[in-house]
Amino acid sequence: MSIKIQTLSGYMHEYQKSVLQPEAFWSRVAESFHWKKHWDEVVQWNFEEPKVEWFVNGKLNITENILDRHLYTHANRTAIIWEPNDPNEKTRKLTYKELYEQVNRFSNALRQKGLKKGDRVVIYMPMVPEAAIAMLACARIGAVHSIVFAGFSSTALADRINDCEAKVVLTSDENYRGSKTIPIKAVVDESLEKSPSVESVIVLKRTGGKVDMKEGRDYWWHDVVEGQSTECPAEEMDSEDMLFILYTSGSTGKPKGVVHTTGGYMVYTQFTFENVFQYSAGDVYWCTADVGWITGHSYIVYGPLLSGATTLMFEGVPTYPDAGRFWDIVDKHKVNQFYTAPTAIRALEAYGLKPFEGKDLSSLKVLGSVGEPINEEAWHWYHDHVGKGRCPIVDTWWQTETGGIMLSPIAGITPTKPSYATLPLPGIQPIIVDEKGKELKGNSVEGNLCIKFPWPSMLRTTYGDHERCRQTYFSTYKGMYFTGDGVKRDEDGYYRILGRVDDVINVSGHRMGTAEVENAINEHPLVVESAVVGYPHDIKGQGIYAYVIADMTNRTAANLENEIRETVNKIIGPIAKPDKVQIVSGLPKTRSGKIMRRILRKVAEGQTDNFGDTSTLLDPSVVEEIIKNRK
Ligand code: WT7
Repeated sequence: MSIKIQTLSGYMHEYQKSVLQPEAFWSRVAESFHWKKHWDEVVQWNFEEPKVEWFVNGKLNITENILDRHLYTHANRTAIIWEPNDPNEKTRKLTYKELYEQVNRFSNALRQKGLKKGDRVVIYMPMVPEAAIAMLACARIGAVHSIVFAGFSSTALADRINDCEAKVVLTSDENYRGSKTIPIKAVVDESLEKSPSVESVIVLKRTGGKVDMKEGRDYWWHDVVEGQSTECPAEEMDSEDMLFILYTSGSTGKPKGVVHTTGGYMVYTQFTFENVFQYSAGDVYWCTADVGWITGHSYIVYGPLLSGATTLMFEGVPTYPDAGRFWDIVDKHKVNQFYTAPTAIRALEAYGLKPFEGKDLSSLKVLGSVGEPINEEAWHWYHDHVGKGRCPIVDTWWQTETGGIMLSPIAGITPTKPSYATLPLPGIQPIIVDEKGKELKGNSVEGNLCIKFPWPSMLRTTYGDHERCRQTYFSTYKGMYFTGDGVKRDEDGYYRILGRVDDVINVSGHRMGTAEVENAINEHPLVVESAVVGYPHDIKGQGIYAYVIADMTNRTAANLENEIRETVNKIIGPIAKPDKVQIVSGLPKTRSGKIMRRILRKVAEGQTDNFGDTSTLLDPSVVEEIIKNRK
């Protein structure tokens, strides 16, 4: 296989090489894959347009690297272990050979539905092996998948389907989540009333619940794969052909379709998976994310399967049927690497130590954290009670846009420090700048995190709007990719992420644009104006606090607050529901009409004085009222 780092000096050595001779470094990594045609040049780039190309003119199919290649060496190794929502339902296991066959059958079915290279497919599915099969089948025939997390509402789903003009939607009858059953086919039906591009819907039978099937549009998964061949020739893809689109929130109201391409994404996710988690053949690896997020794409499906790993997929939630479920699964499948989000750790911390009783966690070797800053207390709890003090924690910092892990310890090799993502992975060149874009050199500095050199899995564009990509990521600081995060580099040169510096908040490891939530709130007919900010929340990391100006004529504050929450639930989904809604008579604005969010943030945090310079504030009495009625 490619490069496997085994010692700290090995890491430092590879890191040096990756910076001094990036082309030689990445060539060496990429050589271990199967290419239908070798690349001409390793990288071509400029951050002005921006234009970034990796493994230029290389031809490949990522699924040949996941499936065909592994058939020679380990056809009978388990590729996917699936653990259902209900512990009494049977676990499923798919070997690499079975996965190969199922992907090919479904690829043939998709081709038969008229899908061609470049067509878009929206996947709105539960966490079942068929979700991974669907992704890989798209990749096999060159169709571009765009997964929408199955917790999003029909409106949010329709927006995403329409933005990428998807031809096909893949879904299931219903979705189990803990004690709930969610009729997701009905959500798809609702969104399709507003989505004219969709020609067919393929529905997996998961629960057996009743669904409406529209003649000539809707087909059952089991019917379309019936009789299909288990061989499907893989489409030849250019290294820079689109692999997938994944929508994510930004500081404007409209989610962006982050575009990832084939060659670079393949090389980087495999390389980082194997190194960060120190995966060895035969290990059982489990990432608790949903495939609807980038973590699920890169570190449940692509990275692990490219590495020939055994990857566990879990359909349920951490607290069902009880708060010991994660530990039951670790014990049952003898999980070696476990990767989750701080919000899950904090939620479980609240149940104390009883859920660990009788669970054997001795198989664990590595623990991972992702999605938001991990506070020291949660870090220690994770380290002591899950890892029993023996397992290194890899605090992995990255983003939907980066495609793969950027800053992280290498498990067991990089000395860790609670709440630090520690050091950049090979090939990653972070730079800290001040507000004006001046580089802050040396150690013990704090500023905005940028990356100054391309890496193989970086986003290439935002779907249908390249200018927006340039504006959002490459225009704030000239010649650099701007992450939107604040960061500190300490006296040892270790990186600690401080959180977003833009109007994005991080709720339970999910990214929410404040403008997006405001737009949803403003859809309520009685709402005049709103302003949303984040505030510290014990379990979610950040909670959503909404200040709303509304016409109160026929409502009480309490019922209006609930209606507003419901409106957001309907327009975006439960993850965006404000934790607190405060009805106000005015918002603190400057004379030029700009909302002073700084003040709103402070009040939401519980700070009621020391607002800094308020001389531009138009009406100070608004602030007094807001403080008085604070939630
Ligand atoms: C934002 C990206 C990438 C996986 C899931 C989230 C925050 C992510 C960490 C970490 C501190 C983190 C950042 C980043 N974030 N990982 N280890 N420590 N903050 O992906 O939805 O694209 O969000 O999540 O603020 O910008 P995403």
